Amino acid sequence: MTPPAILVLDEGTTSTRAMLFAADGSLLGTEQRELTQHYPQPGWVEHDAAEIWERTLACAQAMVETAGGAQAVAAIGITNQRETVVAWDAGTGEPLSRAIVWQDRRTEPFCRQLRDAGHEALVREKTGLLLDPYFSGTKMRWMLDNDEAVRGAADAGTLRFGTVESWLVFKLTAGAAHITDASNASRTMLYSLETGDWDEELLALLGVPRAALPQVVDCAGQLATASVLGSGIPICGMAGDQQAATIGQACLSPGETKATYGTGAFVLTNKGGEVPMSRHRLLGTVLCQLDGTRTYALEGSVFVAGSLVQWLRDSLGLIASAKETEALARSVDDSGGVVIVPALSGLGAPHWLADARASITGLSFATGKAQIVRAALEAMAHQTQDLRTAFAADGADWALLKVDGGMIANDWLAQDIADITGLQVERPGFVETTALGAAMLAAVGAGLHATLGDAASAMIGDRQVFSPAMDDAVRSARIENWDAALAKL
Ligand code: G3P
Repeated sequence: MTPPAILVLDEGTTSTRAMLFAADGSLLGTEQRELTQHYPQPGWVEHDAAEIWERTLACAQAMVETAGGAQAVAAIGITNQRETVVAWDAGTGEPLSRAIVWQDRRTEPFCRQLRDAGHEALVREKTGLLLDPYFSGTKMRWMLDNDEAVRGAADAGTLRFGTVESWLVFKLTAGAAHITDASNASRTMLYSLETGDWDEELLALLGVPRAALPQVVDCAGQLATASVLGSGIPICGMAGDQQAATIGQACLSPGETKATYGTGAFVLTNKGGEVPMSRHRLLGTVLCQLDGTRTYALEGSVFVAGSLVQWLRDSLGLIASAKETEALARSVDDSGGVVIVPALSGLGAPHWLADARASITGLSFATGKAQIVRAALEAMAHQTQDLRTAFAADGADWALLKVDGGMIANDWLAQDIADITGLQVERPGFVETTALGAAMLAAVGAGLHATLGDAASAMIGDRQVFSPAMDDAVRSARIENWDAALAKL
């Protein structure tokens, strides 16, 4: 008999994928579909939740077929873009409005109002988060205030809110389950890190009805059954994509740190059982919850990473594909003084300037495509270094950095991050650590491996190391130019 496979649904910001893994971590198949990005106004970003579901289902069905049928799949692991809010009707099972994406800034006025009224300390203490439009709670409030269908469903008691994993589970179970895992719940601004549940005071502050929210569950176990896939497949793992990547990088002990360069860049340091409380504008978050026990992480969230390269390609037409960036960066000795601060959707950690706009400085007639592309890539190392300074100030300096994500296949970028941070940077041979982490959680939840440590030993392969090699003077000059460009925002 063929050993059982694990189906991972990796629902990201720009695409959704289904991936099939064996219990030893080898990849058996992938199916991917792009997602439409809707930008109805500057600063607004929306998704069509029905499209997310239809495309995810199509990918899942293709992988179930590859596996040889639902009976050959032992478990499903789900991982997702976090904070994005879906509102749907329990009766019809259909979305009530467009999903508001994590990048969306429309609730900044409401966040400012809450900050001005002195509520930030309470929010920080309970949730580990800041009063920023990034998180789900103010997006839910916005829908209730501005969307008649959402308000109507709330009045009728049929409104269901959820982040994307919650929406997918609802659809996969044909409406039988309305659940979210603790790692996703910790991104809503409605969840207490200490109690591990929705917090009444925060629900009242944001005016979100508890009845519309999902039940918070573990990240692994027999969580629900995907009845719409053949004879049914148990859903055994769920985590937000950055938490899943932290697990997929085997950052399983306190102090271990990973950085994922996807649409945005997200750095998480495992903090064990200690609820993190940053004094330097980093976030406290749930890394995972197993058997009711939570492990926490300190997080630095940078909103723009791969999306900057995408913007150079799609909006400016400067490059035809992301792959070109490595050769272009290598084709010049430096950026010729060009600095890009990629605040295309405000600036996240550690600056948190929701209204900031991006800048390109230092242009001259000598500036060409290569210098601009190089400056775009250089911004990744600088954003990472700014986070490192904040983590160190919080007493959580990194000993080494494990990197992953689509962008990091670029060797030049991995080396630049090592050079600017002065740290050893390790890149796994298999860079899809988000999906691998979800597969590890599902494997543990299904009993294929006893612990995440066992799953890591069985499923994670070799790593490539990048060591810092940049001249000190060059490094200092780069950091000085970056700081000067930041100060001009
Ligand atoms: O918090 C947002 C994050 O989950 C988005 O991840 O993979 O789309 O960059 P990604």
